[in-house]
Amino acid sequence: MKIISVVGARPNFMKIAPFIQEINHYNQSNQEAITHLLVHTGQHYDDRMSKAFFEALNIPKADINLGIGSGTHAEQVGNTMIAFEKVLKEEKPDWVIVVGDVNATLACSVTAKKLHVKVCHIEAGLRSGDIKMPEEINRLVTDRLSDLLLTPDLLSSENLRKEGVSDEKIVFVGNIMIDTLEANRDKAKQLLVSQIIEENFIDKQSIQNSNALNKSSFALMTMHRPSNVDLKEILTPIIRFLLDEVAIEIPLIWPIHPRTQKQLKLFGLWEEVMKHEQFILLHPIGYHQMLRLNMGAKLILTDSGGLQEESTVLGTPCLTLRWNTERPITLKKHGGASVLVGNNINQIRQEYISTINHPRKPKRPEFWDGKTAKRSLDTILKHNT
Ligand code: UD1
Repeated sequence: MKIISVVGARPNFMKIAPFIQEINHYNQSNQEAITHLLVHTGQHYDDRMSKAFFEALNIPKADINLGIGSGTHAEQVGNTMIAFEKVLKEEKPDWVIVVGDVNATLACSVTAKKLHVKVCHIEAGLRSGDIKMPEEINRLVTDRLSDLLLTPDLLSSENLRKEGVSDEKIVFVGNIMIDTLEANRDKAKQLLVSQIIEENFIDKQSIQNSNALNKSSFALMTMHRPSNVDLKEILTPIIRFLLDEVAIEIPLIWPIHPRTQKQLKLFGLWEEVMKHEQFILLHPIGYHQMLRLNMGAKLILTDSGGLQEESTVLGTPCLTLRWNTERPITLKKHGGASVLVGNNINQIRQEYISTINHPRKPKRPEFWDGKTAKRSLDTILKHNT
């Protein structure tokens, strides 16, 4: 059997790492080996957004890098399809495995199906119901086309059934990202928060004079969604709230996405956040470093999907800066650690006050147990007829 796995952007890397390890494991103990090729579309290309994760998670160098880079969504998807079609014609795999919901996921599943190659989607069935989100379009199209839909939770399996997907295509395998969390938890635990700050502080010049290095109690922040950072009238009040009501009380550690950094500069907010003593801006950080900060944070404010899931398993109280989520299992009402607060300051403030000293209540949804990669590969082998 020949498999091509696809990655494109940062959140894909922690999902593919355990799957590749599982293939290697299988090949060690089975005579009929699986031929595996890893394709990186190149959507994320900075060392800190890509190479660092390959190294930290022992992902082998991609066999093929399509070098797509940044651009509009149509450019990214179109260029990926053109380049990936050539790969498929050359390599003729039995299966294409796509993970998550980024542009690479959509582009490669469409290209594969047009050439009658079977597609398996790992992390299928998530739905936010918000068609304005580019990721929701990617999920809907990928799931509609996939031959095998491996879901992270039963709510996702139910979403697919409601859309008319036949039962034999849907298999509940659990959350593959939690395989990576469990495999790396101990290594992350050993890192020092002060060292993470020192190594990644965005303003190297002022690090010596900063009190940032001795912070034991801190809040953690990440934000990169276009709906939060692309409009000045939305981004400015969020930054004002963080400056005037959060960072005044507790240091705020914020590993900043390149898109957000660009927008803060564009809207004239960069100087002020850089100057604030308790606003600790970091470059994008590595997998273990983020896991360590998540483990130690009093609370996390984020619009990332992956962090909602990781904070649920770690028990970190999480304010999700979105109006909806494709991951309802992470919400408090389903036993998780997160609450939706959108980008309305009153709502963010209210939940921030009630959450800041909330005790940790780690919750492990069913099958978020570190064994999802094995269940995924077993299922693909079973369906390879
Ligand atoms: C993409 C995913 C999103 C995911 C996020 C994680 C889609 C539709 N979106 O959004 O689901 O949560 O990745 O980061 O696929 N840039 C760099 N260096 C890089 C990559 C990007 O500087 O290595 C900058 C570029 O200015 C680029 C911008 O970031 O235009 C946005 O990158 P892009 O890949 O288009 O989308 P993300 O916002 O990262």
